[in-house]
Amino acid sequence: MHEVIFQFEGGGEVRAEVQAGITLLEAARGANVAIDAPCSGNGSCGKCRVKLLAGTVDDLPTAHISPEEYAEGWRLACGCKVTGGVTVLVPDIASAYQSRMKTADLSSGEEIAIFEKLMADVAAAGIPFENAFRSVRLTLPAPTLDDTMPDNERLSRALCAALGVNEVEIPFDGMRRLSKVLRAGNFTVCAAGRLRGGVFELLDVSEKEAPLCAAAIDIGTTTVSAVLADLQSGKLLAKASSGNGQIRFGADVINRIIEQGRPGGRDRLQKAIVDETVNPILQALCASAKVPPRRILRLCVASNTTMNHLLVGVDAGPVRMEPYIPSFFHWQGLKARDLHLTANGAAGVVLAPNIGSYVGGDITAGAFASLLWNREEFTLFIDLGTNGELVFGNSDFMMSCACSAGPAFEGGDISCGMRATDGAIEAVTIDRETMEPRFSIIGEPGQRPVGLCGSGIIDLISELYRCGIVSAKGQFVREGARVRRDAHGTGRYILARADESDTGREVALTEIDIESFIRAKAAIFSAIDTMLKSLDMDVSVLEHVLVAGGIGSGINMKNAVNIGMFPDIPLEKFSYIGNSSLAGAYAMALSDEAERKTYALASNMTYLELSTYPGYMDAFVAACFLPHTDASLFPSSRQEA
Ligand code: FES
Repeated sequence: MHEVIFQFEGGGEVRAEVQAGITLLEAARGANVAIDAPCSGNGSCGKCRVKLLAGTVDDLPTAHISPEEYAEGWRLACGCKVTGGVTVLVPDIASAYQSRMKTADLSSGEEIAIFEKLMADVAAAGIPFENAFRSVRLTLPAPTLDDTMPDNERLSRALCAALGVNEVEIPFDGMRRLSKVLRAGNFTVCAAGRLRGGVFELLDVSEKEAPLCAAAIDIGTTTVSAVLADLQSGKLLAKASSGNGQIRFGADVINRIIEQGRPGGRDRLQKAIVDETVNPILQALCASAKVPPRRILRLCVASNTTMNHLLVGVDAGPVRMEPYIPSFFHWQGLKARDLHLTANGAAGVVLAPNIGSYVGGDITAGAFASLLWNREEFTLFIDLGTNGELVFGNSDFMMSCACSAGPAFEGGDISCGMRATDGAIEAVTIDRETMEPRFSIIGEPGQRPVGLCGSGIIDLISELYRCGIVSAKGQFVREGARVRRDAHGTGRYILARADESDTGREVALTEIDIESFIRAKAAIFSAIDTMLKSLDMDVSVLEHVLVAGGIGSGINMKNAVNIGMFPDIPLEKFSYIGNSSLAGAYAMALSDEAERKTYALASNMTYLELSTYPGYMDAFVAACFLPHTDASLFPSSRQEA
């Protein structure tokens, strides 16, 4: 056994005793040290960099570390085996997902406004924000030597009279608290629970009145966002978000499924999402709203099919095995205690229903919140996350599909790509004459650039193309101070030199990155094109395009059209609708009718399997160009002479 000391850039350290021969990434995972590992440790992403401070390791050469960086001690955590005692520095950026993630989590006034408008529209569409949760304040006669009725019967009788029900169910936790609360409150108590036919399901008894709460949680592959709301008024009480703790087991669902199939993997992934991610968020929500966790009487989760399987600890293996039928589409009757969630143990956990292996509850919840089902005009809903999912239709029908756009929109597969955290360049323009860039960076004023997030990459490629710096094939065709080539002739555009960046490394976009991104945007456009063609339609039928997801917050629609990612239709038809999965989960948590409607939408939505659909591959190949091999599809895309 050897001691590995992980020192954090921001201070603090973690020590672990590990066996010789395991990698530093495995050692970090075992010690709960968060190191971002989008490729799950196969050495391809280059994001798990750590710096050796003392000791030596057994490592393999990698193109992700230059000879100078190697001499300074930089290594890939997944590419080094422990052979003795060692101390490594974990840079801030390696664990940035934990605390500094900028997400569509209602953290800005703009996000709250979008969210509130969606909710007003849902109500205007005839979905009442009503539910069966009730709170009653009761004063019971105290027991005496002559009145010997036990506490549970005393309370049940009073509740039946007050609510007009025939039966009261008291859960185990409630029963254990009952005698103490009744006596502490001098037999005046508040009872909270849910009506179910003629039965009142008691969920909590308390001395004083307190809000009845619901938690809505959007579990994304990369980020998790949640809100706490008052079940009776609908008021938002608190909001919180963080990175998904499973990220150290891989950036995408495929890597997570592989990991959960390894011995002990399912428990590891469930622990990472429940104990390390959702429960800390629930604790933060309760602390912020000043309510105890037992007042969370209902939870609603919107997540993709893999994420909801891993949350409940059910084998997600079938998701990626032909014929791609997961263990469940919907599952009712789950309780918070089944998942050890920080909430009232008897609280119901509602999972937004899945439609297929790659169109999950996040999309059904999002489609509900988008009100696509209430519009006569043809509407396209696009959710951009670690992949792309689409729903097209109107009040008569809906069709969904998923395309494997990969992690490029969240900075994966791009050499200087990063998620939308501090230091990410999120918007770019280029002066056509001088080729000099101007950009904005996420973070405090004075923040230096670290890398590029999805919206920054879209802007940069669009600008490089507009300025004639790259060709329609994504290759550099102009030379200058900002364009450099490596020994193999591969071009790159330098946004920030090493001495201008926060990491001491150049921030640049290479031809290889552009090629990866072109494939990602081609996957989105060809999915739109194929889905419409399958219905004998084309993009001219689109009256609304609703873009959802974390990446969308800063997306420049004009640039997305310019590179051929979104269809070339009038820009006013595009709207950004924020985190629609979270909005849908909130609606389902608060409104019984919204829950019913979302289930109805899921059962009526058809699913188009693109991977086997004739013509999809041809459409994809045709779209692997800026903006497209058929330029007539993008009349407003331009390259300045
Ligand atoms: S290169 Fe190490 S996790 Fe991707």
